[in-house]
Amino acid sequence: MLVSAKEMLTKAKAGKYAVGQFNINNLEWTKSILLTAEELKSPVILGVSEGAGKYMTGYKTVAAMVKAMIEDLGITVPVALHLDHGSYEGAKACIEAGFSSIMFDGSHYPIEENIEKTKELVAICNEKGLSLEAEVGSIGGEEDGVIGKGECADPDECKAVADLGVTMLAAGIGNIHGKYPENWEGLSFETLDAIQAKTGDMPLVLHGGTGIPEDMIKKAISLGVAKINVNTECQLSFADATRKYIEAGKDLEGKGFDPRKLLAPGAEAIKATVKEKMELFGSVGKA
Ligand code: 13P
Repeated sequence: MLVSAKEMLTKAKAGKYAVGQFNINNLEWTKSILLTAEELKSPVILGVSEGAGKYMTGYKTVAAMVKAMIEDLGITVPVALHLDHGSYEGAKACIEAGFSSIMFDGSHYPIEENIEKTKELVAICNEKGLSLEAEVGSIGGEEDGVIGKGECADPDECKAVADLGVTMLAAGIGNIHGKYPENWEGLSFETLDAIQAKTGDMPLVLHGGTGIPEDMIKKAISLGVAKINVNTECQLSFADATRKYIEAGKDLEGKGFDPRKLLAPGAEAIKATVKEKMELFGSVGKA
C-alpha cells in the first residue's frame, strides 16, 4: 500500500521505534526491500536520491515501477516512496510524478531561505496529502557528489522549521553519509536531546545509518528519532555478495551468467541487511 509517511512516523515516535528508509537503485533493490518489509510486517520507506532517480531514467519510471510492484507482489504493509535530499526543483518534479513523500534539503541555504522554500512545499504537500521532510544543519559525507561537513544543527532553527508544519525533521547531530572515519566522534546526543526538547512530537530523522554502533542507534531512538536512513550498507552487502559469486566462478557454471542468477546473491544480501536493520530499529510487526 503506497501511503505518505505521516501515520507510520507518528506511530513510530509514539511507540519509540524507528521506520527504516532504504534507498533504491534498481528493480532488484526495490523487490528485496518490499518483500522483506512484507515478510516482517514492517512499515517501510523507499528512498530515491536525485542521482538514483536519474539512473532509473526518471521519477515517473520510479513511481510507476514501485506502484506496480506493490500491486504485483501483493504488498499490504504501508510503503512510502520518498525523495531523498531533494532540491527545490526535484521536490516539485517528484510531487508531479506521484511520489508519496518528499524530502526538501534546504540545509545549504541561509536559514531564512530554507524556511521560505520549506514553507511553500509544506503548503503543496499538505494539499496533496504527502509527507514532507526538511533538513537543518547539513549531514556530513558525500551524497550524490555533494560533500557536507557533519555539523550539529541549531535547536532553535530546528524549532523554527518544525513549526512550519513539516512531517519529519532531519537534523545534523554529527552523523555522516557513507562509512564513518576511524576518528569519528560519534553522535551528539546533547544536540539531539536539545532538538527533541524544542520540537516535541516531531519525528526526527537520522541520516547516515550505515555503520552507527547499535547502542547509539537505540539511544537515538529513545531520544526521538523515528526514521533512520540506510543506503551504503545495502550497497556494500550487494557488492560483496556479487563479488563472491564471481570469484567462485559461478557466473561461468551452467547458466550462471544469466542476470537473474548473477544478481540473485546480491538481492538476497540486501534482504538480510534490511531484516537486520528492521529488527534493530524495532519496526518488525508494526505494520
Ligand atoms: P548511508 O549511506 O550512510 O547509509 O546514509 C543514507 C542516507 O542517509 C540517505 O539519505
